[in-house]
Amino acid sequence: MSQITSSRKLDHIRVCLERAVECENHSFDDLSFVHKALPELDWSEIDCSTSFLGRKVSAPIMISAMTGGHTETKEINANLALAAQEIGIAVAVGSQRAALEDPTLEDTFSVVRDCAPGVPIVGNIGAVQLSRHGPEILDRVAEMIEADAVAIHLNYLQECIQPEGEVEACGVLEAIRSAADSSHPLIVKETGAGICYEEASALVKAGIGIIDVAGCGGTSWSAVEAFRAEERGDLESQEIGELFRCWGMPTPASLVECLASGAEAISSGGVRSGLDVARSVALGASVAGVALPLLAAATRGHESVASQLRSYIRALRITMLLTGSASISQLQGAPLLILGRTREILEQRGFNTRRFSVRRELSR
Ligand SMILES: Cc1cc2nc3c(=O)[nH]c(=O)nc-3n(C[C@H](O)[C@H](O)[C@H](O)COP(=O)(O)O)c2cc1C
Repeated sequence: MSQITSSRKLDHIRVCLERAVECENHSFDDLSFVHKALPELDWSEIDCSTSFLGRKVSAPIMISAMTGGHTETKEINANLALAAQEIGIAVAVGSQRAALEDPTLEDTFSVVRDCAPGVPIVGNIGAVQLSRHGPEILDRVAEMIEADAVAIHLNYLQECIQPEGEVEACGVLEAIRSAADSSHPLIVKETGAGICYEEASALVKAGIGIIDVAGCGGTSWSAVEAFRAEERGDLESQEIGELFRCWGMPTPASLVECLASGAEAISSGGVRSGLDVARSVALGASVAGVALPLLAAATRGHESVASQLRSYIRALRITMLLTGSASISQLQGAPLLILGRTREILEQRGFNTRRFSVRRELSR
């Protein structure tokens, strides 16, 4: 079993590096800041630092969960962690299930703490594993990497498409509820299909304080599984995977929905620039997570990851200048127009989008 889990990890990385696995809708483009022609702010005054999981970070950006669990992924994790440490931002590891099944793989995850001693690190395990093995596994997951928090991932879209898929979805909320008083802060995250208000409210009621929306608009796990199906000649799964490529709640809409539940929210799924990070912050996210764009960079080396992150931070700072925001809390109040499909979705769902378009008091 552990070998299957481990080699599937490599398969996923190869497909993500070689094929076009993203959903084409980039919903962040529905969000426009109101340009401030007289910002009355010097570049040197801009401070994009913030705090996340109780630690100071240099920017509201995190490297989202991707890998570990196969010897060949250790270097990727090391490069992501070295860049996170250099820049001073949070980093997450991929599902630690493989290392629970085979402890010799633990170093493919613990390398992240070795390389990034000073930043928040987020562990990762599937909700299905939590439900099957109980909350005790969270201690092992957290201790393996000295995690600041553990993310429990939901990925039923992918499970439905992949042949090895585990589609028992009953009892997961109860498992999350019984884990919520664990000694480690917990995050519940999707993996590219988003989380809506009703689910977010149920999670908050179950004791979860932080939700990573991982919405639709970036990496599509349905597309990844479609490509894997194509490679093994499984035409039906390939077609179904393509059919569901853009299934889910787009990230910006999901963010508004999750924040309305009272949760702290991480924006991820299709965050592709520092401008998207700024848009996420203005909607109310604590940090914005990036996965796929950093994967190719991580195969080249940590400097390549760091250089990409610096470019995100530069675009974030430009947006802060052009909205007259000297700090992240000021950016949270910057007027943001919600247009197009995102506005339609939110209005259909009963949310007032106009409250973002005027300078807001920072009551959220
Ligand atoms: C290669 C790869 C592996 C991933 N593995 C995991 C995982 O093990 N656990 C998890 O919660 N999310 C995983 N994800 C999902 C990401 O954390 C993120 O939610 C999703 O890719 C959307 O972000 P993006 O559009 O920036 O890629 C993975 C993503 C990629 C690209």
